[in-house]
Order: sequence, then structure tokens, then C-alpha cells
Amino acid sequence: MGWVAMPALVAASSNAGAFGFLALATAGPEEAIEMIDETLSLTDKPFGVNFHMFQPGADQIVQAVLDRKIKAVSYSRSPIPDYIKAFKEQGIVCMPTVGALKHAVKAEQLGADVLVIQGSEGGGHTGSTPTTLLLSSVLENVQIPVVAAGGFRDGFGLAASLAWGASGIAMGTRFMMTQESPVPAKTKEAYISAGVEDIKVTKKFDGLPHRLIFNDYIQKIDRSNPFSLFVMSVTSAWKYKQLTKASYGDIMRSFFAMLKGDDLTISQSIMSANSPAIIQKAMVDGSPNEGAMPSGQVAGILTNLPTCNELIQQIMREFNVAATNFKKIEGEKS
Ligand SMILES: Cc1cc2nc3c(=O)[nH]c(=O)nc-3n(C[C@H](O)[C@H](O)[C@H](O)COP(=O)(O)O)c2cc1C
Repeated sequence: MGWVAMPALVAASSNAGAFGFLALATAGPEEAIEMIDETLSLTDKPFGVNFHMFQPGADQIVQAVLDRKIKAVSYSRSPIPDYIKAFKEQGIVCMPTVGALKHAVKAEQLGADVLVIQGSEGGGHTGSTPTTLLLSSVLENVQIPVVAAGGFRDGFGLAASLAWGASGIAMGTRFMMTQESPVPAKTKEAYISAGVEDIKVTKKFDGLPHRLIFNDYIQKIDRSNPFSLFVMSVTSAWKYKQLTKASYGDIMRSFFAMLKGDDLTISQSIMSANSPAIIQKAMVDGSPNEGAMPSGQVAGILTNLPTCNELIQQIMREFNVAATNFKKIEGEKS
């Protein structure tokens, strides 16, 4: 979770007994390496890193992960076999996230040790299959352990996933809504006050299915026709060029990279090149209504901002209640 799964949150979640993943997909290589070192200085517990194998400076990030013997790596689109081989040779757990059965099968063939399957309820870029359906079909078709993600917030969900055959759960939105999360208070309020039905998927934000809170800004993008999307994308390119001090060259380079990589329209490519700055508006600057807030639907049923430690303790209490319920059912049967 770019600008969210920062060293303080990752260390706090690992220190509390979870396994944090550091968000490096939105960082350049030097910043990424500083973030890894900062996390190492804040926890002696294991954690992993999430990055795109195609991002600029990926070679340096891979080398830093190998040198520092980071325990696990998370990735999704366009995995690079040589990187996976290097990680596996050092016993670093390769744990990609997939949102569709065919990607799960392919990821296993490419050497994944564990899969995170993210159902459509999940936040950020997401697929169209609900978590329970994706989990069932992936469990039937792969041999490696599967971790369920998308829509989880508590120990009952953990117990249900284990009963289903998963090896654990992964939660993004729930950890983003904790005390240690760096998201500004005003933006956290916007997440807490959103309803499940306010958190929907649009492809118009950056060309890929993206689950976000439909604030005024995203609603406008989602309703736009090709002409108004083009006007909006050029206006926002100009606005964000000023904001980020990016050169015309930087914007054009991202723009052509987007056009080449996916089947996007020109307007979507411009929006996509600007999307990190638009997300930062909400997640870093604390202006939720002017920016974009990637979110799982689970935000619609979150009501509090616990510390990571309180969250893990609560999850374990709930898990134990669920386990007792299972035992009662077992007892009644015998
Ligand atoms: C704000 C936000 C940013 C995210 N960014 C990334 C990312 O950069 N890379 C990634 O693999 N997943 C990303 N995700 C997905 C999460 O890692 C996780 O799979 C997802 O949140 C699980 O669903 P949940 O939100 O229902 O817990 C993001 C999710 C959110 C909410």
C-alpha cells in the first residue's frame, strides 16, 4: 500500500505478531533501500517487501533484498523469472498476489512459494471474482499454500478462511485504519465514514480495475465520457506537473510506458501517469476530497482505529471464540 505500508506501520504490525509488507512500488530505488533499512532498525521481527519487478531501479531493490536477507517478497503483474530464481536460491519466500485463477496457476508455475489471492472486495487494483469463490477455485488448482485477502477485518474471518483450506489471511485496509498508519487523520475519517456501497471499482482512474472510495472527484471521473475524460486528464496532468515538479519529459515517459504496457486509451494513460500524485493528495497531504482513496469494501464496516497490537489481540480473541464454536459443534456431533 503505497505511502501507507511505510516503515513505522510495517514494523508495528510485525512487532504485534503479524507479517508486515513494506510498500516499495511507489518508491525510487534509493528511497526504497532507505525504507528497508529504517524498517530493519524498528523491528527484529520478520517482514517482507512489495514491489513491481518492472519498476525503475528494480535491480537495486532486488540486490538490497538479497543482501539484507529480507524474509519474503510480494509482487503481482509481470514477474521476472531471474529475480524469482535469485530469491529462491537464498530461501526468500516468493509470495505474489493474484486476482484470478489463471494468474494463480501461472504464478505457481513461475516458482511462487505461497499465493495471496485477492478477491474483488479487496482494495486497490482488484479482480472481479469474490474472495470466497476465488479461494475455492485456487485451492482446487494449486499445490502451494494460499493466503486469502479481500474483505477481512477480524478473527472470525481468519477462522473461516482456515476452515476453507487457506493458510492465513492478508489484510490491507484494516491495517491502514490503525493508529500507526501514516495516513492523515482527515483521510482516515473519510475511510471510517464511507459505507460499503461508496467503495466501488472503476477502470477510468488509471485504466485498470481499481477499487476506491467514490468521493466527488472519483465520481466525476467515473461518469465522464471520452471527451470530458480527455479534458480532465490534461487539466490534471498540468495541475500535477506543477505539484510534483515533474518535467514534461517525465510525464511523457510515464505516458508512453503506460500506453505500451496495457491496452489503454490516451486519456486513461494520462490519468494513469498522474494517478500516484492524485493518490498522494489524499494519503499524504490529507485532502481526501481532492484525491483518490484506494480501499477495500471492508472500510465500510470499520468503526475504529486500534493500535496494531490491539488489533492482533482482538483478532486472536475472536479466533479463539470461533475455535470454541467449532469444538462445540464437533462435541454435539459425537
Ligand atoms: C490503499 C491501498 C493501496 C494498495 N497498494 C497496493 C500495492 O501497492 N501493491 C499491492 O500488491 N497491493 C496493494 N493493495 C492491496 C493490498 O495489498 C491487499 O491485497 C488488499 O488491501 C486486501 O484487501 P482488503 O483491502 O480488503 O484488506 C493496496 C490496497 C490499499 C487499500
